[in-house]
Amino acid sequence: MYFGVDYYPEQWVYPYGGTRERPEAAWERDAELMQKAGINVVRMGEFTWGLCEPEEGKFEFGWLQRVMNLLGKAGIKVVLATPTAAPPVWLARKHPEILPVDEQGLIKHEGTRRAICLNSDVFWDHSKRIVENMAKALGQHPQMIAWQIDNSLGGNFTEASFNEDTRRDWHLWLEAKYETIGRLNELMGLRHWGQVVTNWNQVPMPMAAPTVHNPALVLDWCRFCSDTIVQFVKMQADLLHKLTPKCPVTTNLRPLVHRFDHFDLAEAIDFVSIENTAALRAKSAEMACEIDMLRSLKKSGIRTPDGDTGFWVMEQKAGNVTWQDVNSLVRPGLLRMFTYQLVSRGATAIVFFRWRQPRFGAEKFHGAVLPHNARATARVFKEVAQLGDEMKLLAPSLKGTHVQAETCILYSHDNDWVLQQPMQPNKFFNLREHIQLFYNALHDRNLAVDFARPAEDLSRYKLVFAPSLHLLSGGEADRLKLYVQNGGTLVATFNTGLVDEHNLAPDTGYPHDLTDLFGLEVLEFDQLPPGEENHLTFKGTFPASHMHPARLWCDLIEPKDCQVIATYAKDFYAGRPAMTMHTFGLGKAVYIGTQSHQHFYNDLVTWLRQLCNLHPLLKVPDNVEVSMRQKDDARIFFLLNHQSSPLRIQFYKPMHDCLTGNTFSGNYDLPPHGELVLDEHPGVKT
Ligand code: GAL
Repeated sequence: MYFGVDYYPEQWVYPYGGTRERPEAAWERDAELMQKAGINVVRMGEFTWGLCEPEEGKFEFGWLQRVMNLLGKAGIKVVLATPTAAPPVWLARKHPEILPVDEQGLIKHEGTRRAICLNSDVFWDHSKRIVENMAKALGQHPQMIAWQIDNSLGGNFTEASFNEDTRRDWHLWLEAKYETIGRLNELMGLRHWGQVVTNWNQVPMPMAAPTVHNPALVLDWCRFCSDTIVQFVKMQADLLHKLTPKCPVTTNLRPLVHRFDHFDLAEAIDFVSIENTAALRAKSAEMACEIDMLRSLKKSGIRTPDGDTGFWVMEQKAGNVTWQDVNSLVRPGLLRMFTYQLVSRGATAIVFFRWRQPRFGAEKFHGAVLPHNARATARVFKEVAQLGDEMKLLAPSLKGTHVQAETCILYSHDNDWVLQQPMQPNKFFNLREHIQLFYNALHDRNLAVDFARPAEDLSRYKLVFAPSLHLLSGGEADRLKLYVQNGGTLVATFNTGLVDEHNLAPDTGYPHDLTDLFGLEVLEFDQLPPGEENHLTFKGTFPASHMHPARLWCDLIEPKDCQVIATYAKDFYAGRPAMTMHTFGLGKAVYIGTQSHQHFYNDLVTWLRQLCNLHPLLKVPDNVEVSMRQKDDARIFFLLNHQSSPLRIQFYKPMHDCLTGNTFSGNYDLPPHGELVLDEHPGVKT
């Protein structure tokens, strides 16, 4: 198992470290301290273009080679990042057309990272050249185990740029998709407001305008920008695969934050990596949701440096960040606990951002393993070093183990982009918050969850949630039917199937292509402002523990042959169905026409657990997060106490503590923010 740090050796040469005589001497101490902390890998290089090519065509990779040699002596491997996230200043001065343009038509200037348009031919050519030269100079180094392509793609809102090169590519992209201008007019519905076009050059980029652009055009624009990012990564991946076939490639991702199709991108790389911020949220379920989403991006065809088939954590923030209004410290023990959360959900490598707190630059007060004074007595250093010891101990048991989920939440970026557009039925509806309600209920009952695109093969899951798939293509709808037909249980909600893949509303009833699956039709949908509520009245066996409100959105459902589980309590649709269930083939399709509070989703999961025969991993008190990794019959349980007080857990059979080697059963007091890693083979030392 790899355990490491993000390292910026370029920032520790004389006069910031080392001496006049030995300007690189600080690297030696860094390597020694890294060894002490159990570190066996570093990621580096992502912002070094200006240092590796200080003048056009003049390459200097010797210093990186010297760092790698030194790391080699300390037994530390290297993930080298291609430096295209931060082009040198000379490149922008010579070719200002590489600079990004915002929706107002204003240039975003050079002098910082990400000041680039990914459609620029000049930028592509220079990127290819630096990547090729870097791969030739360093790719065969014995320490090299993987490449990271670029860095934090889409970060700082750089998913789109409105340059002339972009306009050209946009038109080519549209032409490839629609083939004729007539088809484009028709499928985009450009008759609306009379915005028809007569040739490709007339199709606008959705720049700042008096009011909203055509929503189908904006959706295509998001797809086009996403394809641009994916193609840029693919261009680098192809080059690197050709020049250094033994090195797998990855990149660091935040799939629920950055606006490009992360599933598409995951196909272009060998393994996926996450950026995680323990500092940001105390809410473990929100962090877990992002981790599960990241893991789910690549479910097959994974190639990592050590042959494991999980994901990497390329940036686990080792303390406070610098980009919040108030950048609080990460409390003692929390870095450790949230690192276990990542491992418990399938991470096979942890790399901390960053090794040393920089003395200069925009992030000089960002948390790091070592503070400015670089003392190994620092609180975070000690916590990381302890983790280093523990990971060494756990690595053999974790080898080859995976997270296996029986439940799944459907998510597509296309759908998310459409829902982020203005002029929605209800601007207070938020897809992420809606997903989180389902996710929290599953998480708090310790049921493992995957995410998937609606068009994936879902047959491995017992239970699938489809929260507000507003945009649903015909092919996706067929997949959902097939899944239920063959025995699956699908739970879908309001705001599903309101448009097809062209952002076109159906004239055959909502949810389009799925009225037969749910045995109902949605005739209208009412919108409630925040603070206004309807209520749900349940029939039959639904275990309602509270009065459940109906909020934001109320579908007016015409039942056909479905069973009604709940009705609305008031307004002109009082007594009409709000929640239904329909048997379709061998499976069941549940429809929920409104949004409620968290207690409703908790009750829903209790009800569905019985319906689908799902078992929690272990019986534990609230606030203990349980996850499991398994390989064949071997199961490893992770228990995390998210409370700041101890929690008593009862074990009914003997469990083996993988960290201490002890075997115990009966009561166990899990300390505040403490964790346990257990397997079921008493007596076997890890
Ligand atoms: C990441 C980025 C790093 C650093 C970090 C700060 O998104 O990749 O370079 O800026 O944020 O938290």
